[in-house]
Amino acid sequence: MKIFVTGGTGYIGSHTVVELQQSGYDVIIADNLVNSSIDVLDGIEKITGIRPEFEEIDLTDRAATRDFFVRHSDIKAVIHFAALKAVGESVHKPLEYYFNNLNSLMNVLDSMREFQVPNLVFSSSCTVYGQADVLPVTEKTPRHEAESPYGNTKVMSEDIIRDLMKVESKMNALALRYFNPIGAHPSAYIGELPNGVPNNLIPYLTQTAIGIREQLSVFGDDYNTPDGSPLRDYIDVVDLAKAHVVAIRRLLEGKNKANYEFFNIGTGKGLSVLEIIHAFENATGVKVNYKIVGRRAGDIEKVWADTTLANTELGWKAATPIEETMKNVWKWQQSLR
Ligand code: NAD
Ligand code: UD1
Repeated sequence: MKIFVTGGTGYIGSHTVVELQQSGYDVIIADNLVNSSIDVLDGIEKITGIRPEFEEIDLTDRAATRDFFVRHSDIKAVIHFAALKAVGESVHKPLEYYFNNLNSLMNVLDSMREFQVPNLVFSSSCTVYGQADVLPVTEKTPRHEAESPYGNTKVMSEDIIRDLMKVESKMNALALRYFNPIGAHPSAYIGELPNGVPNNLIPYLTQTAIGIREQLSVFGDDYNTPDGSPLRDYIDVVDLAKAHVVAIRRLLEGKNKANYEFFNIGTGKGLSVLEIIHAFENATGVKVNYKIVGRRAGDIEKVWADTTLANTELGWKAATPIEETMKNVWKWQQSLR
């Protein structure tokens, strides 16, 4: 059974390819390598013993995307990861983000429709909830207007998929709303490869711990949270990858209850920035040089998931303790020396 993974050399895509292969699926990846390296294929092969098929394609190229589907008539489902994802950059380059994220999705959907590939799993984000009034957020929590063009591409992508599914009754789509993915594969053969100075907490933290950065800035300790720093739902990337396997199986086995569904994928627990730093220090024995600074513009105070729907409907639950995630991400950072 062959699964088409777009953006499969990226951070979450590569971990998902591993889990798919280890569950017996054949995988073909298309990626334009705008934010990943071809060497990721070596890492995947080291873990699973199988080198996934790979094609370098820009999915905003409609003809190239169509041609891919013409040549691969054995694809049974698509997991669409390919997107640009830097929130801050999207504010300065809105058109690039709308162009890339929406055109690649529409080209993939158009070809799926034409070549009758019925099943799609889509990477969405908890960013669609913004700062929710009631926590934790369930799938019934209303979406808020997006804070950034990146976030807006996720809202718009969900809407495009929803509207198409209304008229394509033979197609099925499932969106996974990831909370904050962190960590690396326990083998340390794959992990997150941030470009330049990281914006996200964990890569900045591990780069500080190893001495690439001098100090981690903690953005604010005056929020309405137990220790004053913001709360997020940090989900281990291998647990997240496994959610995709479960989602794909649900669609392939026809167990979905509607032809468009969406699920929160998190742990169900909010951790503060300071708790994350201490979890890292406890798990690794390495001290992190950090300083409390002012709030970061655009940050929300707190968000974490109610994962009941994913637990009961998908039969999926986050399983990796935070200490293990921290050990894995530290091993990954050390492997990059
Ligand atoms: P990533 O940048 O590591 O992976 C995305 C991959 O898509 C990269 O390999 C990139 O080269 C590729 N790509 C981008 N545009 C492309 C195009 N036009 N054609 C072909 N390939 C293209 O990001 P990630 O963290 O693995 O995220 C995967 C998906 O999950 C994205 O859709 C992202 O928006 C979503 N997501 C990520 C997070 C997160 O915190 N990492 C949170 C929520 C949602
Ligand atoms: C951001 C995006 C979200 C996206 C996610 C992953 C926003 C509003 N949201 O989430 O849409 O899915 O990235 O790319 O941008 N922090 C520090 N110091 C740092 C870095 C972060 O204290 O150097 C804090 C932040 O204030 C935040 C937490 O760590 O409270 C997590 O930050 P980050 O990893 O950037 O993710 P989000 O902002 O939650």
